[in-house]
Amino acid sequence: MKTLVTANQKGGVGKTSTLVHLAFDFVERGLRVVVIDIDTQANASYTLQNFKADCLASDLFSQNGPASKSRFASLSGNPVLIGSGALLADLERKTLTEVAPIFKSNLEALSDCGFDMCLIDTPPSLGVGLAAALFAADFVLSPIELEVYSIQGIKLMVTTISNMRKANPKLKFLGMVPSKVDARNPRHGQHLKVLHTAYKDLMIPTVVGLRSSIADALATGVPVWKIKKTAARKATKEVRALASYVYQQMEMQS
Ligand SMILES: Nc1ncnc2c1ncn2[C@@H]1O[C@H](COP(=O)(O)OP(=O)(O)OP(=O)(O)O)[C@@H](O)[C@H]1O
Ligand SMILES: [Mg+2]
Repeated sequence: MKTLVTANQKGGVGKTSTLVHLAFDFVERGLRVVVIDIDTQANASYTLQNFKADCLASDLFSQNGPASKSRFASLSGNPVLIGSGALLADLERKTLTEVAPIFKSNLEALSDCGFDMCLIDTPPSLGVGLAAALFAADFVLSPIELEVYSIQGIKLMVTTISNMRKANPKLKFLGMVPSKVDARNPRHGQHLKVLHTAYKDLMIPTVVGLRSSIADALATGVPVWKIKKTAARKATKEVRALASYVYQQMEMQS
């Protein structure tokens, strides 16, 4: 099982949207995918509510973790959700040293349950939950917005990831993917150019546009390619291109 985290301490930049679409796309490619929602906002849990396992993300931070094959009976055809819950808030009162090894060993147990891919959605904060996810993961992907507040936060995010790589040397930063990009907004175009110069090796070569069909998809619990609107086609193309790129970078091909 390979583990990917979507991370950015800035809120509303497309972490959950990206993660949910990767989950749907990877399942269609025949992978057995588990999604762990460690954000108390529970946005991924809302969109994937039909695919709930009978355990919660907070269980993965406790010694007697949840992994047993029977809990994940329907492994194929859909992503499996280990959802958020109120207990996750307690995590921020604990230390990373306390919870990181437990979370990591619970992920190893999940791997034994037959999953190929684990996707972890994180909150918009640099807390214990995000750090524990980065400590256990193989890959991290950062959706960004091309607005000034988001750009301001990129340095901190890149530093955080590079610091976590000292504790978890196998962690690979796949890079930043611009999300909610408005092609008609000159500011977005300028910011994209600046980022490609400043972070040449960290920019993913695809973008996801500002597409209302993506918000429609997240609200109705389906991927954007199931939205019956002409406008959903462009969004589908962009999201599929991102998923192909991530799939290749994670070397999922046999
Ligand atoms: N490409 C897009 N085009 C238009 N709207 C989008 C797009 N991607 C996401 N959205 C909408 O923007 C909002 C924020 O997206 P999302 O929840 O994926 O961001 P996030 O980084 O996970 O936010 P948070 O930090 O709060 O968890 C949501 O309401 C979502 O429906
Ligand atoms: Mg989110």
